[in-house]
Amino acid sequence: MSKKLIKDNYKKKIKLINVYNRRYYRDNKSDVTDAEYDVLKKEILSLENKYPYLVSKESIKNTIGYKPSKNFKKAIHRVPMLSLANAFDEEDLVNFEKKILNFLSQKNDTQISYTAEPKIDGISASLSYKSGKLVMGLSRGDGKEGEDITSNLITIKDIPKIILSKDFPEEIDIRGEVFIQNSDFSNLREKFANPRNAASGSLRQKNPEDTKKIPLKFIAYTFGFVKGLKIKTQFEYLDKLSEWGFKTNPLNKLISGVKNLIKNYDEVEKNRSDLDFDIDGIVYKVNEFELQKRLGNVANAPRWAIAHKFSSNKAISKILDIDIQIGRTGALTPVAKIKSVNIGGVLVSNATLHNEDEINRKDIRVGDTVTVERAGDVIPHILSVDFNKRPKNSIKFIFPNKCPSCGAKTIKEFNFITKKNDAVRRCSSEGYFCEKISIEKLKHFVSKDAFNIDGFGKKIVESFYKLNLIKFPQDIFNLNYNIIEKLDGWGKLSVENLRYSINEKKNISLDRFIYSMGIRHIGLENAKLLAKYFGSFSKFKDLSNNKYKELLNIDGIGETQVNSIKIFFSNKTNIKVLNELEKVLTVKDVSTKKNRGVLINKTFLITGKLDGISRAEVKSMIEENSGTTVSSVSKKLNYLIVGDKPTKNKIENAKKLKIEIINQNQFLKMLNKTN
Ligand code: IVH
Repeated sequence: MSKKLIKDNYKKKIKLINVYNRRYYRDNKSDVTDAEYDVLKKEILSLENKYPYLVSKESIKNTIGYKPSKNFKKAIHRVPMLSLANAFDEEDLVNFEKKILNFLSQKNDTQISYTAEPKIDGISASLSYKSGKLVMGLSRGDGKEGEDITSNLITIKDIPKIILSKDFPEEIDIRGEVFIQNSDFSNLREKFANPRNAASGSLRQKNPEDTKKIPLKFIAYTFGFVKGLKIKTQFEYLDKLSEWGFKTNPLNKLISGVKNLIKNYDEVEKNRSDLDFDIDGIVYKVNEFELQKRLGNVANAPRWAIAHKFSSNKAISKILDIDIQIGRTGALTPVAKIKSVNIGGVLVSNATLHNEDEINRKDIRVGDTVTVERAGDVIPHILSVDFNKRPKNSIKFIFPNKCPSCGAKTIKEFNFITKKNDAVRRCSSEGYFCEKISIEKLKHFVSKDAFNIDGFGKKIVESFYKLNLIKFPQDIFNLNYNIIEKLDGWGKLSVENLRYSINEKKNISLDRFIYSMGIRHIGLENAKLLAKYFGSFSKFKDLSNNKYKELLNIDGIGETQVNSIKIFFSNKTNIKVLNELEKVLTVKDVSTKKNRGVLINKTFLITGKLDGISRAEVKSMIEENSGTTVSSVSKKLNYLIVGDKPTKNKIENAKKLKIEIINQNQFLKMLNKTN
């Protein structure tokens, strides 16, 4: 196709999506289904990726500029609005409870009470009250910063504007869900695809008068920042909310024991269609605030709560082919290419088959008629095969024992922690030897949370790789732009843009850098922990053999992560990549703006079993109060915390070095947390 034809075709699509955007955001009308809109958006994005010269101010990334968010002021949530981990079955719930009991160092038969709150599928909002007066209302935003949508929120009748109750806290951010009842939605069907879109669209109206016309409801369920709250449990809090004039979910319950949670779940799910609002699961929260506080958060979700999702939308389709995708860690993931089918408004043409075991267990074959399930944002998967419809000539799928990309043997690793072979088969080649692994590593390197190079999308990585322009991350910073300018689809301007975006990213923070290396088990959160620990690129790079163990002292880093870091550093190509990148990049040191907690500059080591509290919890307490934990007795150690059955050697060495030896209570006293 000629450049002109491509451009015309692109412009036509942009024009169309602009019409849809305008209709949706400005006029609240929807001319197309979500699926049709997504297909168009995908087509535009893929054109932009394939022909970077098309990218301009009109680019889709900029024109979702009907995004009303630009109309609202931003404000920080004093306490972040977290998200929730998901559970799909009983096993997930058993694990959730196990982790809680382990963290709290409680016996397996300890009964924990949970509130079970049906999870309304709406839009969350945070309402700040001062001396009983509503002073501000924020959307969730990215959890840290929301949009100030006060003027729209105050049009909602369910939201009290003044609360006179004596026991209402002096200051509190009340959080809950804004939604539309199904009966009210029936009148809005023409404008919005589903009740959730309707709630979100109307909350974001520029003119509050428009919001007022839409019957939004509000149900309260939690709080953020608070001063002067005198109760001790979530269930009491839900009670208080109604006393103060908020609506709460009438189906909220207080339950203990996983079996009872399941019983309640089954009942609610059975009656789900009778409700006048959409729910997509049940949220369980540890009832005692004291326990919630001890459990704290992991990444951006609390350890003390989980969302138990209802089973989702299903559809029947046919497997056209089974593809093996190779991830950046070498994992071979089988993917079923299925006949496109619309599941809950989204057009699905791929379904993950997870791994070899899953294919064997379900005996999934090319040509099979299957039930496909799509739950929330999770990748669709195959639920079951209809064996009656299996073609006569069907043959069993044989999982490749050689990597389809580089031919190396594929292996199932032995996991020393679970003492079992992994279910996932991996390409056994190392570093950048395998083409597919390299391409995936490079895609990860330029991705949003890593180097985030504008205009350097997945398609460009693939084409530059095939053209031998990039093989290793450092090649991105040493590109031959003269060659690129002559490539089909590139011109002076687009090359200039690319050069600019790449140069702009030569300064990078250490956490992003560590994340960009794509070390197995080192995601964004772990990369942040490591960056904070190392402080500088040189310290990270110099991580030599005997220092690995020390990493175990970082709260949140375990043996699995340490092992994987070890493997990364033992690979010569990785070291070369680090050295080459060092030449072209400036990796910023982590600023050591430390909280000045009571344990500042103090180091601790724990030996023996503690009473009613796990090591993980003690470590997180130490870090929260600006102290650090170390792994061995040395002059650097300030306190040895001794529990039951300690290591004698450690005590003797500590005595020799005149290190202060304390017990659990003495430690807690340092934090004013005596039993
Ligand atoms: S508690 C840390 N309680 O679910 C606690 N959330 O995935 C986080 N939601 O953004 C929120 N009903 O929009 C909580 N009873 C409930 C909820 C609920 C619905 C939504 C909320 C949140 C999302 C978390």
